[in-house]
Amino acid sequence: MKNIYNLDNKTVVVTGGAGGIGMAVCRLLGSFGAKIVLTDFNQDGINTAVKELEGMGISAVGFLCDTSQESQVLATFSQIVSQVGAPDILINNAASGIHVPPQDTSLEEWNGVIETSLTGYFLNARSFARAVMAANKPGVIVNIASIAGSSAIGRGNFAYSVAKGGVIQMTKELAIEWATAGIRVNAIQPCSVNTPGWRKWVESEPEASAKLLAKLLTGIPLGRVAEPEDIAAGVHFLASDAAAMVTGVILPIDGGNLAFNAGGTLGSY
Ligand SMILES: NC(=O)c1ccc[n+]([C@@H]2O[C@H](COP(=O)([O-])OP(=O)(O)OC[C@H]3O[C@@H](n4cnc5c(N)ncnc54)[C@H](O)[C@@H]3O)[C@@H](O)[C@H]2O)c1
Repeated sequence: MKNIYNLDNKTVVVTGGAGGIGMAVCRLLGSFGAKIVLTDFNQDGINTAVKELEGMGISAVGFLCDTSQESQVLATFSQIVSQVGAPDILINNAASGIHVPPQDTSLEEWNGVIETSLTGYFLNARSFARAVMAANKPGVIVNIASIAGSSAIGRGNFAYSVAKGGVIQMTKELAIEWATAGIRVNAIQPCSVNTPGWRKWVESEPEASAKLLAKLLTGIPLGRVAEPEDIAAGVHFLASDAAAMVTGVILPIDGGNLAFNAGGTLGSY
């Protein structure tokens, strides 16, 4: 019987691959046979990640690339194609946000968030599509969005949430644009995920972090924040042949957060 989850002979590009969710994706997809190409703007992080993956017996290579810079993304994909060959799968994952109320957000701050968390996804998707189209083979893109892309957080997460909303619509548009080219495009909407980036985010929020954590948990019916491995499992499904008929889908991995009305009640009443 064919193993529809097997990723042997597949090359996966993971942006922000040295980070929390990115690294969990590298570990899981690599353990199913994929060759890992991770890109990040943190060279030390790349070195540590590649070493760990190789120690697990996973084929891994890293490229220093700021996803918000067009010239760097173009150069990185050109190197990937010449050194590793046209990739099969792209995981658009590198993103960052700020905590500034909309009325106080400068144009520079707005542009900074949009360039990394939205434009960067477009630049990588475009280079990936060009590479697989030139190689005349199918491809898969998984965009890491957020529940913040379709429900509002407040607390100065404005620019980040708008960028994530853009990622969700980008996913649907690209799924339609590239369906006949054999490129599937889907997205995942995580709730809070226990990563270095998230821990820093909670600590930098205006509300005390313990109070904020309790508030976040009241919105998650399954009663815990996600672990990076929860998100990686969804990425694996969407990237594999198990999802061969799935495109244009936005998959929440959020413990029921988006399904739960703020006025709803959990358990007995
Ligand atoms: N952790 C959460 O609670 C959560 C929730 C919803 C969505 N997400 C999304 O998941 C993704 C990963 O988040 P995480 O929590 O693992 O983040 P993280 O901060 O732990 O890791 C992010 C990685 O991306 C890299 N990076 C950031 N900007 C970059 C850039 N411009 N170019 C190249 N590399 C860059 C960082 O160096 C780091 O290695 C992001 O898209 C984030 O918005 C996270």
